[in-house]
Amino acid sequence: VSATGRGLADVLVDGETIVAVLQPGSALLGTDVAASVDRVIDATGKYVIPGGIDAHTHMQLPFGGTSASDTFETGTRAAAWGGTTTIVDFAVQTYGGDVFEGLERWHELAAGNCAIDYGFHQIIGGVDDASLAAMPKLVDEGISSFKLFMAYPGVFYSDDAQVLRAMQVSRETGLLTMMHAENGPAIDVLAAQLVAQGKTDPYYHGIARAWQMEEEATHRAIMLADVTGAPLYVVHVSAKQAVEQLAWARDRGQNVFGETCPQYLYLSLEEQLGAQSDEWGAFEGAKWVCSTPLRSRAEGHQDHMWQALRTNDLQMVSTDHCPFCMKDQKELGLGDFRKIPNGIGSVEHRMNLMYQGVVTGRLTLERWVELTSTTPARMFGMYGRKGVIQPGADADIVVYDPNGHTSIGIDATHHMNMDHSAWEGYEIDGHVDTVISRGKVVIDDGAYLGAKGDGRFIKRGLTQYLT
Ligand code: URP
Ligand code: ZN
Ligand code: ZN
Repeated sequence: VSATGRGLADVLVDGETIVAVLQPGSALLGTDVAASVDRVIDATGKYVIPGGIDAHTHMQLPFGGTSASDTFETGTRAAAWGGTTTIVDFAVQTYGGDVFEGLERWHELAAGNCAIDYGFHQIIGGVDDASLAAMPKLVDEGISSFKLFMAYPGVFYSDDAQVLRAMQVSRETGLLTMMHAENGPAIDVLAAQLVAQGKTDPYYHGIARAWQMEEEATHRAIMLADVTGAPLYVVHVSAKQAVEQLAWARDRGQNVFGETCPQYLYLSLEEQLGAQSDEWGAFEGAKWVCSTPLRSRAEGHQDHMWQALRTNDLQMVSTDHCPFCMKDQKELGLGDFRKIPNGIGSVEHRMNLMYQGVVTGRLTLERWVELTSTTPARMFGMYGRKGVIQPGADADIVVYDPNGHTSIGIDATHHMNMDHSAWEGYEIDGHVDTVISRGKVVIDDGAYLGAKGDGRFIKRGLTQYLT
């Protein structure tokens, strides 16, 4: 199955590379090639798809006085279990820090530790003369995209002047601007007022981060992109009104794109409000504190996200994998939701969760592949090598069994370094049977055969998605 169609075929892999996609069965019989094949994987009745590409993860991200609980080792291993063979993580430059020191630090964290291939985007947390001068050199390092934050004042935040200046570099260099589009200063006032009223439970995180704050920032980012001519990619879109802004900008002919994440397709603010446990009481809801926040199901955001994936108002699905344990991490926000580290862990489950869109008739098989692999490859400058099964491509291949079953939960399928699962109890129609990462079988019928260090840094080219 590819993004453009499906058919019966044999896929021939030599070393790390796909060398042929052949008519089934007979083409090789009796040839020297057939005699030298040392392993045949029978995928009869199953789907053979290009390995998943999760273009938004945060292994070991420092946040709120702690760090995301998955290392590159544990996080990429969990990704492999779930049929993802490439991640693009975010190297971090903070205010006053050096862009290349931030990048070097991320290389140190990842090198020799990853089970699958990885690339980096660069977070620009402090737009100033020095970082603006450094940014064009990112292209030579294989970093072809950077993320700005209109949220989190005092941490990663850029004001409009900083956004404008960084977008001018984006326009000049072809670097893709990725935007966290929420009005951070306004949100922080609302959040402080809620806490002052004693509204400190995790649920109020989503009340403070109202959809208006996302719509407004998305519109502002679009206008700043228009005036500078920068290509814009809005991350973790959750509000239907933000999608409408993206659709409007695309209809105007702008190079504006958006991703959503499984949590915004499946989970809701109402469920977060209703979450209770003996151990945590209403603080149970902290498991689903992320930004942008979960949205109200009564308002119809989730259905709108699914629809936008059909209509291409949203182009792809990443996880924004940013896991924190409840113990010692999320619990930092007991009594004040503002101190709960933001993020959900999903890197292991994205392919399975998105396949449910096929099962329920919301997506075609081809669209599933496009949203989870082919478009991420094109969007972030890896297509040809990644995101497609064709001669010359890296042999990143998943054999997916549509008749298999996967139970998700902390005691079921769970390889992420967390003490809970945000997806506890989800039952998946489908199963990741075999995962091949650059020619090496890393998941084989329930066994992990990979090793840390198998994954290599992928130098990415400029986005291949612009008109
Ligand atoms: O809650 C989230 N999304 N945490 C990760 C940081 C970000 O803004 O992507
Ligand atoms: Zn963000
Ligand atoms: Zn993120």
